Amino acid sequence: MTEDKNISIHGQWSSRWAFILAATGSAVGLGNIWKFPYITGEYGGGAFVLVYLFCVAIIGIPIMMAEVMLGRRGRQSPINTMRSLAKAEGRHGIWSWIGWMGVLAGFLILSYYSVIAGWGLAYVFRTATGVMHAADSAGIKDIFGELVSDPEKLLAWHTCFMVLTMVVVARGVKHGLEKAVRFLMPLLLILLLILVGYAMNTGHFSEGVEFLFKPDFSKLTGGAILTAMGHAFFTLSLGMGAIMMYGSYLPENTSIAKTSIIISLADTMVALLAGLAIFPIVFSFPELAPGAGPGLIFQTLPIAFANMPGGQFFGTLFFVLIVVAAWTSSISLIEPAVAWLIENRGMTRVRAAVWSGLATWLVGIATVLSFSHWAFDFNFLGTVKHNGVFDILDILTANIMLPVGGMLIAIFAGWMMKPKHSKEELALNRSYKLWQFLIKYVAPVLVFVVILNIFGII
Ligand code: TRP
Repeated sequence: MTEDKNISIHGQWSSRWAFILAATGSAVGLGNIWKFPYITGEYGGGAFVLVYLFCVAIIGIPIMMAEVMLGRRGRQSPINTMRSLAKAEGRHGIWSWIGWMGVLAGFLILSYYSVIAGWGLAYVFRTATGVMHAADSAGIKDIFGELVSDPEKLLAWHTCFMVLTMVVVARGVKHGLEKAVRFLMPLLLILLLILVGYAMNTGHFSEGVEFLFKPDFSKLTGGAILTAMGHAFFTLSLGMGAIMMYGSYLPENTSIAKTSIIISLADTMVALLAGLAIFPIVFSFPELAPGAGPGLIFQTLPIAFANMPGGQFFGTLFFVLIVVAAWTSSISLIEPAVAWLIENRGMTRVRAAVWSGLATWLVGIATVLSFSHWAFDFNFLGTVKHNGVFDILDILTANIMLPVGGMLIAIFAGWMMKPKHSKEELALNRSYKLWQFLIKYVAPVLVFVVILNIFGII
């Protein structure tokens, strides 16, 4: 233990900006560029996007503030942070279960996240070698189909990505990462803007914009609402302790409200830009459909790159950046587990990283097989899902575990903690009341209502 109780034994960010960049690195990932477009496509566009934006603003930002606040007060892994905060507030130790559930959710998410990031890695090489460039839009679709139906290839790429993740985690989240994120994140933004520029010239830009922003409420099924809410948690990295963990490295005297708003805005902007880049391309080619599922960006973006000047270069760079975005997210999925192993099992960081990485890698094999041998269709609240175990893991974590975790965090921060403590930690004046109202009533009630509704209870 360090002498200073105000610093985590795992270290501290060097500045407020280091925290913002790292948390934005965690938030911006496959969720924005890969998942947001394909679920928006599956659930029919505009109305789904509206619910998602509403959830980010009304549920996401207040819960992000709560997570950062709890993390900075507890200064440990989420499990131990919740245990010690519960004790300090005179509450039952059972609140540490928030941390346990978060560790489990993080494992399960990373297990499939790594497989998808592996697709990104594969595409770096396919784009760089010009395979994509030579193919037409039907050929590009086939290239994707061949990749995902080959478990050996997927396993190899999944393994590569897990190794990348564990190397950073083993070295400690701060080293190297802070610097990498500082220049790669802006680069990602520039490339997205270039893609949007390309989309504007497809002749189908307005169709894309309309699909994204014109709500058709008849498409808003229960499944769409649950998925939109779950995605608000997923995309902001909330509900499992990742942001709590990052908050535990936050220096005192940093405004939690301001940083949370900056992170959420940046994350939302990247998702909307990805949507604006992808849908006009989808509408330009008859063989593509918005509801194509998890392969959507892998079947659309290569077409854009094949048709733009310098496309081979930009395409390669873009997939590199997707992998980097996934990389800075994946480490935050496993960091709470690693920190706990260090704190409670006396492991070194390297050992903790190796063991947790190995366990995640093993579970990931189920996702590897979900696109071939283990693929099966099932009906999820009226939408047919095609990728068996992968879809189940995704629905279980993003749509159930994260919202429930977030709801419990909100209840703890709003009801279990003395207002004096939360007020002091958040250092807000007038807007404290607003936060308190959202965290006590709005966020938990909305999550609760949506989940009960899904189970047909109300
Ligand atoms: N937010 C990341 C993305 O959008 C994924 C992610 C990283 C995450 N850490 C998380 C999701 C913690 C939920 C919880 O790609």
